Amino acid sequence: MKILAIETSCDDTGVAVVEVSGYGRFQVFSNEVSSQIEIHKKYGGVFPMMAKREHQHNVVPVFEKALEKASLLIKKPKFQNQKPVSASQLKTLKCILAREDALFEKLINFLEKYEKPDIDYIAIVHGPGLEPCLWVGVNFAKALSYLFDIPLIPVNHIESHILVNFLEGKTDKKIFPALSLVVSGGHTQLILVKKIGNYKIIGETRDDAAGECFDKAAKILGLSYPGGPIISKIADKSDRRRASIILPRPMMNSKDYDFSFSGLKTAVLYKVRDFESTTIHSRMVAKKKFLKEMCCEVQQAIVDVLLKKTFMAAKDLKVKSIILGGGVSANKELRKQFETQALKFKIPLLVPPSHLSTDNALMSAVTGYFHRKDIISWQKLKVDANLRVGK
Ligand code: KG4
Ligand code: ZN
Repeated sequence: MKILAIETSCDDTGVAVVEVSGYGRFQVFSNEVSSQIEIHKKYGGVFPMMAKREHQHNVVPVFEKALEKASLLIKKPKFQNQKPVSASQLKTLKCILAREDALFEKLINFLEKYEKPDIDYIAIVHGPGLEPCLWVGVNFAKALSYLFDIPLIPVNHIESHILVNFLEGKTDKKIFPALSLVVSGGHTQLILVKKIGNYKIIGETRDDAAGECFDKAAKILGLSYPGGPIISKIADKSDRRRASIILPRPMMNSKDYDFSFSGLKTAVLYKVRDFESTTIHSRMVAKKKFLKEMCCEVQQAIVDVLLKKTFMAAKDLKVKSIILGGGVSANKELRKQFETQALKFKIPLLVPPSHLSTDNALMSAVTGYFHRKDIISWQKLKVDANLRVGK
């Protein structure tokens, strides 16, 4: 069974192709991601309408590349002079892609050149995420489903951050019930996973997400976007033992499983103001030292809170494993400290490879496989920007 997956929930345009044989044995044919970081960097964050425009331009080329890598891009014979679509198909396509002119043109171009790809299912991320961005992927998937008569499987982006951990097919009973910590730019959630497809959110952030805190702190510190990887890189150079800056760990000792990161960002702002008012600007050495210490402390404050709440919940709920997912789980220090703690608590820890922690379409393909029975007609598929896992 070949699954093509499309992911456009934020600022990465992703298309992947996998073949699944037997129970959960995935063969990855391609996993293409076109990042918009260079565009959003200038503004220090993602602008949904700008991201939508980029997805519109990128999705067909990324789709083409993913098919090519999967050896599924078949050129039409040159002598075939007929129109790529009939008049009635053109009308429906125009209707599906009414808000995506650039995409429509690129798709027609594709249809002129290439045959229908040999795909059994299309897994499509329909939420949660930035609404205008999600619509690009969803409308593209609808158009493909309509044209080629390929069934659609709607995919939840958060669930896909969890299920990417099952790419190697480790779905044995020893894992469940599991506790998943999904930490991304838009979400910080603790989710009880009774089994694949059965979820309950037991705690989440009341304000900013952990990734958002990394990004906002970076901006305050004059660093680029996305802040997480940059803060992590600078923190690596810091001598932890000599650090003198102390930031708060919001809600770390509360009895619930919720989080709050907006206060941490504000604390960073106050520290920067204090430093600037008391330090002579020409003292570059002091500035560099301050930056390194700040990055180290921001990272540690976030990791401390995530660690404490996750292991507290894991103990309370007597889960058999902990599953990490989401962009922030690419953080080296976070991974190291979770691994140490998991060894101490003697609990298995599942962590995706770093390049699969951040957004990609392979995770959507894996999720599509587990939901292959939940197909939906293209007419019924909708975006749900606030989609949640569980009931
Ligand atoms: O899951 P993701 O790729 O996109 C969303 O669904 O939001 O997560 C993106 C977030 C960004 O906030 C980014 O700063 C953060 O993940 N991130 C990291 C690291 N790599 C990405 N945060 C900390 N350390 C990293 N190495
Ligand atoms: Zn994500």
